Amino acid sequence: MSTNSITTQKVNFKVFRFNADDDYLPYYEDYNMEVTSEEVVLDILNRIKWDHDGSFSYRRSCRHGICGACAIKVNGRSTLACKESMTTMIEMFGTDLVLEPLSIKRSVKDMIIDKADFWDKHEAIHPYLISDIEEDPEHEHLVTPEQAEELLEADLCIQCGACHYACPVVEINEDFFGPAAFAKAYRFEADVRDDAHTERLLYLHEEKQGLWDCVKCFECAEVCPKEVNPIDKITKLHQMLFKKGVATSNVATRHAVGFKHSIVKRGVLDEGQLVLYSEGPSIIKHIPVAIKMFRKGKIAMPWAIPKSDNLDEIQKLVESSSTAKF
Ligand code: SF4
Ligand code: SF4
Ligand code: FES
Repeated sequence: MSTNSITTQKVNFKVFRFNADDDYLPYYEDYNMEVTSEEVVLDILNRIKWDHDGSFSYRRSCRHGICGACAIKVNGRSTLACKESMTTMIEMFGTDLVLEPLSIKRSVKDMIIDKADFWDKHEAIHPYLISDIEEDPEHEHLVTPEQAEELLEADLCIQCGACHYACPVVEINEDFFGPAAFAKAYRFEADVRDDAHTERLLYLHEEKQGLWDCVKCFECAEVCPKEVNPIDKITKLHQMLFKKGVATSNVATRHAVGFKHSIVKRGVLDEGQLVLYSEGPSIIKHIPVAIKMFRKGKIAMPWAIPKSDNLDEIQKLVESSSTAKF
Protein backbone atom coordinates (compact mmCIF):
# COMPACT_ATOMS: atom_id res chain seq x y z
CA MET A 1 0.00 0.00 0.00
CA SER A 2 1.30 3.52 -0.75
CA THR A 3 0.43 6.99 0.58
CA ASN A 4 2.53 9.95 -0.60
CA SER A 5 5.36 7.56 -1.46
CA ILE A 6 5.33 6.06 2.05
CA THR A 7 4.70 2.34 1.63
CA THR A 8 3.49 -0.16 4.23
CA GLN A 9 4.02 -3.87 4.39
CA LYS A 10 2.94 -6.72 6.68
CA VAL A 11 5.92 -8.27 8.45
CA ASN A 12 6.12 -11.33 10.72
CA PHE A 13 8.58 -10.81 13.53
CA LYS A 14 9.89 -13.73 15.55
CA VAL A 15 11.40 -12.14 18.63
CA PHE A 16 13.85 -13.72 21.08
CA ARG A 17 12.62 -13.59 24.67
CA PHE A 18 14.49 -14.52 27.83
CA ASN A 19 14.53 -13.32 31.39
CA ALA A 20 17.52 -14.72 33.28
CA ASP A 21 15.65 -14.25 36.58
CA ASP A 22 12.59 -16.32 35.63
CA ASP A 23 13.17 -18.41 32.51
CA TYR A 24 15.01 -21.71 32.35
CA LEU A 25 15.22 -21.53 28.56
CA PRO A 26 14.70 -18.77 26.00
CA TYR A 27 11.72 -18.80 23.62
CA TYR A 28 10.48 -16.82 20.61
CA GLU A 29 7.36 -14.66 20.47
CA ASP A 30 5.57 -13.84 17.18
CA TYR A 31 4.38 -10.33 16.33
CA ASN A 32 2.65 -9.53 13.03
CA MET A 33 2.85 -5.84 12.27
CA GLU A 34 2.26 -3.31 9.49
CA VAL A 35 5.60 -1.64 8.86
CA THR A 36 6.10 1.63 7.00
CA SER A 37 9.02 2.43 4.73
CA GLU A 38 9.92 5.33 7.03
CA GLU A 39 10.63 3.11 10.01
CA VAL A 40 13.96 1.81 11.24
CA VAL A 41 14.43 -1.40 13.23
CA LEU A 42 14.44 0.54 16.51
CA ASP A 43 10.89 1.75 15.77
CA ILE A 44 9.78 -1.88 15.69
CA LEU A 45 11.45 -2.60 19.05
CA ASN A 46 9.69 0.47 20.47
CA ARG A 47 6.31 -0.62 19.07
CA ILE A 48 6.67 -4.13 20.51
CA LYS A 49 7.33 -2.60 23.91
CA TRP A 50 4.78 0.21 23.76
CA ASP A 51 1.92 -1.59 21.94
CA HIS A 52 2.33 -5.27 22.79
CA ASP A 53 4.41 -6.08 25.86
CA GLY A 54 5.82 -3.52 28.27
CA SER A 55 8.22 -6.07 29.72
CA PHE A 56 10.11 -6.40 26.40
CA SER A 57 13.64 -5.13 27.02
CA TYR A 58 16.37 -3.70 24.79
CA ARG A 59 18.97 -0.94 24.94
CA ARG A 60 18.73 2.38 23.14
CA SER A 61 19.94 5.89 23.76
CA CYS A 62 21.01 8.36 21.06
CA ARG A 63 18.85 7.16 18.13
CA HIS A 64 21.47 8.66 15.82
CA GLY A 65 23.95 5.81 15.33
CA ILE A 66 26.37 7.35 17.78
CA CYS A 67 26.15 5.53 21.11
CA GLY A 68 26.21 1.91 19.88
CA ALA A 69 23.62 0.81 22.47
CA CYS A 70 20.93 -0.54 20.12
CA ALA A 71 22.89 -3.21 18.22
CA ILE A 72 20.94 -6.48 17.77
CA LYS A 73 20.81 -9.26 15.19
CA VAL A 74 18.20 -9.35 12.43
CA ASN A 75 18.08 -12.75 10.73
CA GLY A 76 21.54 -13.43 12.14
CA ARG A 77 23.07 -10.21 10.79
CA SER A 78 24.44 -7.70 13.31
CA THR A 79 22.45 -4.49 12.90
CA LEU A 80 22.44 -1.07 14.51
CA ALA A 81 18.68 -0.84 15.12
CA CYS A 82 18.40 2.96 14.94
CA LYS A 83 20.38 3.13 11.69
CA GLU A 84 18.99 0.27 9.63
CA SER A 85 15.77 0.97 7.74
CA MET A 86 13.00 -1.61 7.60
CA THR A 87 12.95 -1.21 3.84
CA THR A 88 16.54 -2.46 3.65
CA MET A 89 15.80 -5.33 6.02
CA ILE A 90 12.79 -6.44 3.96
CA GLU A 91 14.80 -6.16 0.74
CA MET A 92 17.52 -8.33 2.27
CA PHE A 93 15.47 -10.94 4.10
CA GLY A 94 11.82 -10.68 3.02
CA THR A 95 8.90 -10.27 5.41
CA ASP A 96 9.81 -12.99 7.96
CA LEU A 97 12.31 -11.40 10.32
CA VAL A 98 13.95 -12.87 13.41
CA LEU A 99 15.10 -10.36 16.04
CA GLU A 100 17.73 -11.60 18.48
CA PRO A 101 20.34 -10.14 20.80
CA LEU A 102 23.93 -9.83 19.56
CA SER A 103 24.85 -12.89 21.59
CA ILE A 104 22.15 -15.34 22.64
CA LYS A 105 24.26 -16.98 25.30
CA ARG A 106 24.94 -13.61 26.94
CA SER A 107 21.29 -12.50 27.07
CA VAL A 108 20.21 -11.17 30.43
CA LYS A 109 16.78 -9.95 29.39
CA ASP A 110 15.52 -10.20 25.80
CA MET A 111 17.85 -8.04 23.63
CA ILE A 112 19.99 -6.91 26.56
CA ILE A 113 23.24 -8.82 26.84
CA ASP A 114 26.02 -8.88 29.39
CA LYS A 115 28.89 -7.18 27.53
CA ALA A 116 31.41 -7.66 30.35
CA ASP A 117 33.84 -9.62 28.14
CA PHE A 118 33.71 -6.90 25.48
CA TRP A 119 34.56 -4.13 27.96
CA ASP A 120 37.21 -6.24 29.73
CA LYS A 121 39.00 -6.75 26.44
CA HIS A 122 38.61 -3.12 25.50
CA GLU A 123 40.27 -2.13 28.76
CA ALA A 124 42.97 -4.78 28.44
CA ILE A 125 44.55 -3.22 25.35
CA HIS A 126 45.08 0.12 27.20
CA PRO A 127 42.72 2.19 25.03
CA TYR A 128 44.15 5.57 25.94
CA LEU A 129 47.11 7.79 25.20
CA ILE A 130 50.15 6.82 27.26
CA SER A 131 52.62 9.67 27.26
CA ASP A 132 55.06 11.41 29.57
CA ILE A 133 53.51 14.85 29.42
CA GLU A 134 55.49 17.72 30.87
CA GLU A 135 53.60 19.50 33.59
CA ASP A 136 54.33 22.91 32.13
CA PRO A 137 54.92 22.39 28.40
CA GLU A 138 56.13 25.38 26.42
CA HIS A 139 53.82 24.56 23.55
CA GLU A 140 51.22 22.00 22.53
CA HIS A 141 52.14 18.67 20.98
CA LEU A 142 51.48 19.41 17.34
CA VAL A 143 50.13 16.66 15.07
CA THR A 144 50.27 17.23 11.35
CA PRO A 145 47.17 16.54 9.22
CA GLU A 146 49.09 13.66 7.59
CA GLN A 147 49.82 12.13 11.00
CA ALA A 148 46.19 12.55 12.07
CA GLU A 149 45.09 10.78 8.91
CA GLU A 150 47.05 7.71 9.99
CA LEU A 151 44.34 6.97 12.56
CA LEU A 152 42.07 6.19 9.61
CA GLU A 153 38.53 5.13 10.51
CA ALA A 154 39.64 3.60 13.83
CA ASP A 155 38.50 6.76 15.60
CA LEU A 156 34.91 6.27 14.40
CA CYS A 157 34.23 3.19 16.55
CA ILE A 158 31.17 3.62 18.79
CA GLN A 159 31.82 0.45 20.84
CA CYS A 160 28.55 -1.15 19.76
CA GLY A 161 30.07 -4.64 19.98
CA ALA A 162 28.54 -5.78 16.68
CA CYS A 163 31.89 -6.96 15.31
CA HIS A 164 32.96 -8.53 18.61
CA TYR A 165 29.90 -10.77 18.79
CA ALA A 166 30.02 -11.57 15.08
CA CYS A 167 33.64 -12.77 15.32
CA PRO A 168 33.92 -16.59 15.13
CA VAL A 169 37.16 -16.58 17.14
CA VAL A 170 35.57 -14.66 20.05
CA GLU A 171 32.88 -17.34 20.02
CA ILE A 172 35.32 -20.20 20.64
CA ASN A 173 38.34 -18.57 22.31
CA GLU A 174 37.49 -16.55 25.39
CA ASP A 175 40.99 -15.06 25.58
CA PHE A 176 40.92 -13.52 22.09
CA PHE A 177 40.74 -9.72 22.30
CA GLY A 178 38.41 -9.43 19.33
CA PRO A 179 38.12 -6.97 16.41
CA ALA A 180 36.84 -3.92 18.30
CA ALA A 181 39.70 -4.07 20.81
CA PHE A 182 42.22 -4.42 17.98
CA ALA A 183 40.72 -1.48 16.09
CA LYS A 184 40.99 0.60 19.26
CA ALA A 185 44.57 -0.59 19.84
CA TYR A 186 45.43 0.51 16.29
CA ARG A 187 43.95 3.92 17.01
CA PHE A 188 46.57 4.48 19.72
CA GLU A 189 49.41 2.63 17.97
CA ALA A 190 48.95 5.02 15.04
CA ASP A 191 48.92 8.09 17.28
CA VAL A 192 52.31 9.83 17.17
CA ARG A 193 51.80 11.22 20.69
CA ASP A 194 51.61 7.77 22.29
CA ASP A 195 54.77 6.46 24.01
CA ALA A 196 53.64 2.88 24.69
CA HIS A 197 53.71 1.57 21.15
CA THR A 198 56.12 -1.31 21.65
CA GLU A 199 54.65 -2.49 24.97
CA ARG A 200 51.12 -2.51 23.55
CA LEU A 201 52.27 -4.28 20.38
CA LEU A 202 54.05 -6.97 22.36
CA TYR A 203 50.89 -7.54 24.35
CA LEU A 204 48.81 -7.75 21.16
CA HIS A 205 51.32 -10.20 19.71
CA GLU A 206 50.82 -12.85 22.41
CA GLU A 207 49.34 -16.13 21.24
CA LYS A 208 45.73 -17.06 21.92
CA GLN A 209 44.67 -13.55 22.95
CA GLY A 210 46.43 -11.65 20.21
CA LEU A 211 46.38 -10.61 16.58
CA TRP A 212 47.65 -13.88 15.15
CA ASP A 213 44.55 -15.81 16.12
CA CYS A 214 42.39 -13.79 13.72
CA VAL A 215 41.29 -16.12 10.90
CA LYS A 216 40.72 -13.23 8.46
CA CYS A 217 37.09 -14.06 7.74
CA PHE A 218 36.22 -10.34 7.24
CA GLU A 219 33.01 -10.77 9.24
CA CYS A 220 33.94 -7.76 11.43
CA ALA A 221 34.30 -5.51 8.38
CA GLU A 222 30.95 -6.72 7.02
CA VAL A 223 28.95 -5.98 10.15
CA CYS A 224 30.49 -2.71 11.36
CA PRO A 225 27.86 0.05 11.04
CA LYS A 226 30.53 2.78 11.15
CA GLU A 227 32.85 1.27 8.53
CA VAL A 228 35.75 1.02 10.94
CA ASN A 229 36.95 -2.06 9.04
CA PRO A 230 38.68 -3.80 11.99
CA ILE A 231 40.36 -6.48 9.84
CA ASP A 232 42.19 -3.70 7.96
CA LYS A 233 43.47 -2.37 11.31
CA ILE A 234 44.51 -5.89 12.35
CA THR A 235 46.54 -6.20 9.14
CA LYS A 236 48.17 -2.83 9.84
CA LEU A 237 49.06 -3.97 13.36
CA HIS A 238 50.63 -7.12 11.86
CA GLN A 239 52.77 -4.87 9.63
CA MET A 240 53.73 -2.69 12.61
CA LEU A 241 54.89 -5.78 14.50
CA PHE A 242 57.34 -6.57 11.70
CA LYS A 243 58.30 -2.96 10.97
CA LYS A 244 59.20 -2.25 14.57
CA GLY A 245 61.01 -5.57 14.85
CA VAL A 246 58.93 -6.77 17.80
CA ALA A 247 57.40 -9.80 16.06
CA THR A 248 58.90 -12.89 17.65
CA SER A 249 59.02 -16.27 15.96
CA ASN A 250 55.81 -18.27 16.24
CA VAL A 251 53.76 -20.37 13.82
CA ALA A 252 51.83 -17.34 12.59
CA THR A 253 54.82 -15.05 11.98
CA ARG A 254 56.75 -17.87 10.30
CA HIS A 255 53.66 -18.49 8.15
CA ALA A 256 53.74 -14.84 7.02
CA VAL A 257 57.47 -14.99 6.33
CA GLY A 258 57.17 -18.36 4.54
CA PHE A 259 54.40 -16.97 2.35
CA LYS A 260 56.62 -14.17 1.14
CA HIS A 261 59.59 -16.50 0.55
CA SER A 262 57.46 -18.87 -1.50
CA ILE A 263 56.16 -16.09 -3.72
CA VAL A 264 59.63 -14.56 -4.16
CA LYS A 265 61.12 -17.96 -5.04
CA ARG A 266 58.52 -19.23 -7.51
CA GLY A 267 55.90 -16.56 -8.05
CA VAL A 268 53.29 -19.05 -6.79
CA LEU A 269 52.45 -20.47 -3.39
CA ASP A 270 54.11 -23.77 -2.47
CA GLU A 271 51.71 -25.08 0.22
CA GLY A 272 54.05 -27.88 1.35
CA GLN A 273 57.00 -25.53 1.88
CA LEU A 274 54.72 -23.06 3.65
CA VAL A 275 53.76 -25.67 6.24
CA LEU A 276 57.40 -26.70 6.65
CA TYR A 277 58.40 -23.05 7.15
CA SER A 278 55.60 -22.41 9.66
CA GLU A 279 55.77 -25.59 11.70
CA GLY A 280 59.49 -26.50 11.52
CA PRO A 281 60.18 -30.01 12.94
CA SER A 282 56.52 -30.29 14.09
CA ILE A 283 55.66 -30.84 10.42
CA ILE A 284 55.97 -34.57 11.17
CA LYS A 285 52.48 -34.55 12.67
CA HIS A 286 51.07 -33.39 9.31
CA ILE A 287 52.66 -36.16 7.23
CA PRO A 288 49.57 -38.48 7.12
CA VAL A 289 47.40 -35.56 5.92
CA ALA A 290 50.10 -34.47 3.44
CA ILE A 291 50.22 -37.99 1.93
CA LYS A 292 46.43 -37.99 1.51
CA MET A 293 46.54 -34.52 -0.09
CA PHE A 294 49.38 -35.56 -2.40
CA ARG A 295 47.43 -38.64 -3.55
CA LYS A 296 44.42 -36.48 -4.34
CA GLY A 297 46.57 -34.01 -6.27
CA LYS A 298 46.04 -31.18 -3.78
CA ILE A 299 49.77 -30.60 -3.24
CA ALA A 300 52.83 -31.26 -5.38
CA MET A 301 56.49 -32.00 -4.64
CA PRO A 302 58.56 -28.77 -4.57
CA TRP A 303 60.54 -29.70 -7.70
CA ALA A 304 57.29 -30.32 -9.61
CA ILE A 305 55.99 -26.79 -8.98
CA PRO A 306 56.82 -24.64 -12.02
CA LYS A 307 58.11 -21.10 -11.63
CA SER A 308 55.82 -18.35 -12.78
CA ASP A 309 56.59 -16.95 -16.27
CA ASN A 310 56.55 -13.44 -14.82
CA LEU A 311 58.77 -14.15 -11.82
CA ASP A 312 60.89 -10.99 -12.30
CA GLU A 313 57.78 -8.85 -12.32
CA ILE A 314 56.35 -10.56 -9.25
CA GLN A 315 59.61 -10.17 -7.33
CA LYS A 316 59.64 -6.44 -8.11
CA LEU A 317 56.04 -6.16 -6.90
CA VAL A 318 56.83 -7.98 -3.65
CA GLU A 319 59.87 -5.74 -3.12
CA SER A 320 57.94 -2.52 -3.72
CA SER A 321 54.93 -3.48 -1.59
CA SER A 322 56.80 -5.06 1.30
CA THR A 323 56.82 -2.90 4.39
CA ALA A 324 58.02 -5.56 6.78
CA LYS A 325 61.51 -6.35 8.04
CA PHE A 326 61.86 -10.15 8.15
S1 SF4 B 1 38.47 -11.02 10.49
FE1 SF4 B 1 39.45 -11.72 12.39
S2 SF4 B 1 38.79 -10.30 13.98
FE2 SF4 B 1 37.42 -10.00 12.19
S3 SF4 B 1 35.68 -11.33 12.62
FE3 SF4 B 1 37.09 -12.56 11.39
S4 SF4 B 1 38.40 -13.64 12.88
FE4 SF4 B 1 37.31 -12.00 14.00
S1 SF4 C 1 34.45 -1.52 15.13
FE1 SF4 C 1 32.41 -1.09 14.32
S2 SF4 C 1 31.20 -2.89 14.86
FE2 SF4 C 1 33.02 -2.96 16.10
S3 SF4 C 1 32.44 -1.99 18.03
FE3 SF4 C 1 33.33 -0.38 16.71
S4 SF4 C 1 31.62 0.51 15.63
FE4 SF4 C 1 30.88 -1.40 16.50
S1 FES D 1 20.49 4.27 19.92
FE1 FES D 1 22.52 5.03 19.86
S2 FES D 1 23.40 3.98 18.18
FE2 FES D 1 21.32 3.34 18.16
